[in-house]
Amino acid sequence: MNTRTHLTHQQPIYRLTDVTRSYNGRKVVDIKNLSIFPGELFAIIGPSGSGKSTLLRLMNFLEEPSSGDLEFAGYRRRAGVDVPLELRRCVTMVFQRPLLLNRSVWDNVIYGLRLRGIRNSYHLVQQTLEEVGLEYLSHQQVKTLSGGEVQRVALARAIVLRPEVLLLDEPTANLDPYNVALIEKIMVKLNEQHRTTVILVTHNIFQAKRLAGRVAFLLDGQLVEVADTETLFSAPADERTAAFVSGEMVY
Ligand SMILES: Nc1ncnc2c1ncn2[C@@H]1O[C@H](COP(=O)(O)OP(=O)(O)OP(=O)(O)O)[C@@H](O)[C@H]1O
Ligand SMILES: [Mg+2]
Repeated sequence: MNTRTHLTHQQPIYRLTDVTRSYNGRKVVDIKNLSIFPGELFAIIGPSGSGKSTLLRLMNFLEEPSSGDLEFAGYRRRAGVDVPLELRRCVTMVFQRPLLLNRSVWDNVIYGLRLRGIRNSYHLVQQTLEEVGLEYLSHQQVKTLSGGEVQRVALARAIVLRPEVLLLDEPTANLDPYNVALIEKIMVKLNEQHRTTVILVTHNIFQAKRLAGRVAFLLDGQLVEVADTETLFSAPADERTAAFVSGEMVY
């Protein structure tokens, strides 16, 4: 359905070099080097305000870096130049505060497919709603849904597009254990069965530990440490990482 980048495992899907993003002269993201590879389940953790959502918006091409190089699948983003549509369509994002259309669950999930001119998608929408456990609510208006249901519609709307890269900004914040488990299962399935690259921003360090292969710890816009999950949690190289993952960092 959508274009894919056909990268091998060794080629990064994202490569950031000296990427900064500033607002009103304040640098909120400042990444020296970061490479993310196809098929990874990569988590970004860090305190509130550390720049996690901003970093995801950069990776979703919604914002431009203020300086530095952001490469996606070998394509280098240039200031003032739109990223080609076929590359943008490889990536979908679920926002921290999802905005849904004031219509039914079904209409929300099919919307992105329609925008892409994809017809005859009844089975795909149906299957996606089943995946997120919402098939029985397909005709319900989204304004009447619970918080957990809204999060699942937002996820369904993204995964129905079968993206190569899925960016998730706190997809389980404020959800009960049932919904957390359900959404985590979907992330793992997409990653393991469909080889979707999943980049997960989460406050929940236990979630990062459960799901991710590698984890990045962001503090004041900078990457303190990027490591495989086992190392980052059991033998972090930086004392600030150790303080954060042990819950000692006060923020
Ligand atoms: N459009 C904007 N204009 C001005 N400042 C912004 C803008 N977007 C983000 N910021 C600021 O950048 C900093 C980083 O914000 P960001 O939303 O990326 O943090 P976060 O790590 O996602 O935090 P949280 O965990 O609370 O979601 C914050 O201080 C925020 O106020
Ligand atoms: Mg955020």
